[in-house]
Amino acid sequence: MKKALMGLLMLVSMGVHSQNKLVLNTDLAETKISKHIYGHFSEHLGRCIYGGLYVGEENKLVPHINGMRTDVVEALKKLEIPNLRWPGGCFADTYHWKDGIGPKGDRPTIVNSWWGNVTEDNSFGSHEFMELVKQLDTEPYISGNVGSGTVQEFSDWVQYMNFDGKSPMSDLRAQNGHPEPFKVKYWGVGNEAWGCGGHMTAEYYANVYRQYATYINTSWEKDSRVFKIASGASDDDYHWTEVLMRDIPRHMIDGVGVHHYSVIDWNNKGSATDFNEDQYFTTMTRAWDMERIVSGHEAIMDKYDPEQKVGMMVDEWGGWYDVEPGTNGGFLYQQNTMRDAMIAGMTLNIFNNHADRVKMANLAQVVNVLQAVILTDEERIILTPTYHVMEMYKVHQDATLIPMHLTTDDYEFNGKKLPAISASASKSEDGKVHVSLTNIDLNKDHEITIDLRGEDLTSVSGRILVSDKVQDHNTFENPNKVVPQEFNEAMLKKNMLTLEVPASSVVVLELD
Ligand code: AHR
Repeated sequence: MKKALMGLLMLVSMGVHSQNKLVLNTDLAETKISKHIYGHFSEHLGRCIYGGLYVGEENKLVPHINGMRTDVVEALKKLEIPNLRWPGGCFADTYHWKDGIGPKGDRPTIVNSWWGNVTEDNSFGSHEFMELVKQLDTEPYISGNVGSGTVQEFSDWVQYMNFDGKSPMSDLRAQNGHPEPFKVKYWGVGNEAWGCGGHMTAEYYANVYRQYATYINTSWEKDSRVFKIASGASDDDYHWTEVLMRDIPRHMIDGVGVHHYSVIDWNNKGSATDFNEDQYFTTMTRAWDMERIVSGHEAIMDKYDPEQKVGMMVDEWGGWYDVEPGTNGGFLYQQNTMRDAMIAGMTLNIFNNHADRVKMANLAQVVNVLQAVILTDEERIILTPTYHVMEMYKVHQDATLIPMHLTTDDYEFNGKKLPAISASASKSEDGKVHVSLTNIDLNKDHEITIDLRGEDLTSVSGRILVSDKVQDHNTFENPNKVVPQEFNEAMLKKNMLTLEVPASSVVVLELD
């Protein structure tokens, strides 16, 4: 605190005025930030399910409960993950759920044609997923097969998972050891229908969606309604959203997906750990694109659904780089550095600030794939910088968004500019105010003043995620290189908070 005070006095005496200013109207908070914005995604891809989450009931090397690895479950529970999407991704539209039920020895094997052409033995199916969900104390989000399945197959799956009376599918479920319905609320009607989910046009998919949605029986549910999510647009394909919102009657749809990955160039993604400032800046540009993309889809949704009944579900997002050298190209296994912490901090701020429309988001993917929060190597695990951002930001889950006005300096590189600071703030039920700040500028610490309007707050504490280099990451040999630390550098005086946000760092403050 003393250091911060001296720093501030020096700045004042030098006549330096910060360009970064955040005005927070704490008394005007009213929109709830859905906890589902902090959701995750687990696909049958590489070592996400097999090895990452599930090691098999007979495994002697890795501690597990009913096949689910204990270390990973415990780490995810600390994040309080609100939902888990499964089984894909592209895999979902090749998946026939009946292959994954019943005695394991009787389950057929298939080829995972999207991801490495490896053999899928179906030992992890619907019951195993629900066991995982139970252990994680989270909500399931199932993507059904539209691309290569049938309406009957999809509606049978919903009946199998949810019907609590007597029916062919509920009898089958009981025969497989679970007489009680699982009550799965969130159902995705296909995935990336414009691509791996069938290469459909928006107009064609809207009709297909209507057909599938007709037979997803929601009336069985006594205490929770099935929530139907349409396969959404890629990036800024606004035509897709326009057609879905125009052609699908409101009562048939609860959510529309959007997918956006922060990728430098699909043909030249670059290394996850060995990158220069040019590549870093491009990744940050792609991550900032999320603001434009969400706003663009939001404007269309507002036009067709001014009452905001349909949620925007950004059910795939994150950084995407080349796979780690020597690993299977189809497994999408990549390391995770402070660059990923920047993507996460900035993206979650964007989602929070659009909480009136964004009702769910799923980081791709939870373990060992793309921007994972956990990496595993046999019996070892590491928590990535992205994990730590998710953990620091969990205070925003189901809290009330505080309206804000942010003025920020630019991060400049080679004549190009991006906003250096991103922020969001919320008030939790116990009245605490949380402010999350991300400074993506590689070269400059940025001083910011936060004007807290609406109520008197008298104490501040904080945590920071920062490291010497933006390429820094945790390894199995050095798992704690990047971990959050206490941050006591924020000075609060008469509802004016002043702090310096270090270059490429994420700070979360708590005010009371
Ligand atoms: O997350 C990896 C893949 O990216 C998913 O399977 C697909 O939906 C997207 O293209």
